[in-house]
Amino acid sequence: MTDDPTDLSRDPSDLTEPTGQNGPARPVRRKEHQVPELPAGVTPARVRTFVRRGRLSSLTRDRVERLGPARSLPEGPFDAAAAFGRTAPVVLEIGCGHGHAAIAYAAAFPEHDILAMDVHTPGLARMLADADEAGVPNLRVEIGDAVLFLEDRVADATFEAVHLFFPDPWRKQKHTKRRFVSPGNLDLLARVLKPGGHVLVATDQDFYAEHVFAEVAAHPRFEAQRVERPTWRPGDGFEAKGIAAGRTINELRLDLLPQRP
Ligand SMILES: C[S@@+](CC[C@H](N)C(=O)[O-])C[C@H]1O[C@@H](n2cnc3c(N)ncnc32)[C@H](O)[C@@H]1O
Repeated sequence: MTDDPTDLSRDPSDLTEPTGQNGPARPVRRKEHQVPELPAGVTPARVRTFVRRGRLSSLTRDRVERLGPARSLPEGPFDAAAAFGRTAPVVLEIGCGHGHAAIAYAAAFPEHDILAMDVHTPGLARMLADADEAGVPNLRVEIGDAVLFLEDRVADATFEAVHLFFPDPWRKQKHTKRRFVSPGNLDLLARVLKPGGHVLVATDQDFYAEHVFAEVAAHPRFEAQRVERPTWRPGDGFEAKGIAAGRTINELRLDLLPQRP
């Protein structure tokens, strides 16, 4: 376990985080009430798929202030041409963490544009620094909840593909409603994908892969299958940790089906 605020390798329902005004960071176990349980039988309209973490370091603030503006979206409805300065296929990565996959995608597919989103500012700040080094003019970054972004700012049939790599598994039964792959979010993804679009999901948690298959089987607009690992995606992070722990990496593709009349 580490107290690095940019480390995403922790179960969000069981976090420690650095605290302390000036001195060294002190690990403090978060109280369970910060991931509130849902009352039995209650399905609220919106359930967060993430937990907000810690305060921002000066390094994070500096990276966001210095490098963020050039890669941020203009306010208001998402306008790909305005955001990227050209018209090209656009891919959305949800929960990009440190952004290694998004940067690699941008470098491998310069003819595409990629928008990388996360709520975890320190991770995105690291991504901004790495993206700056890598160049990648076809990468934009948005800090925030992808669900709200899609609901409020994205028009129908916007994205060629959506990437969801190593989503928080929310292992405990009482947290299953927080898993990103859910009926409501599949509805949203179906709306914002272009016809023939797809969602790529990778997870080192077999139960989460089963969860995805079950949710998709119950959804009218998607069909799920196992696919080859994308060769462009870096093998570090959760993938490397999963393999080192003896777990299988599940690579799934959810294909958008035509809408039935
Ligand atoms: C387990 S981490 C994986 C990060 C990255 N994909 C990787 O492979 O290193 C899951 C990430 O999803 C982000 N996340 C969860 N729900 C989200 C949402 N609704 N909108 C944006 N990001 C979200 C979390 O903040 C976290 O950074």
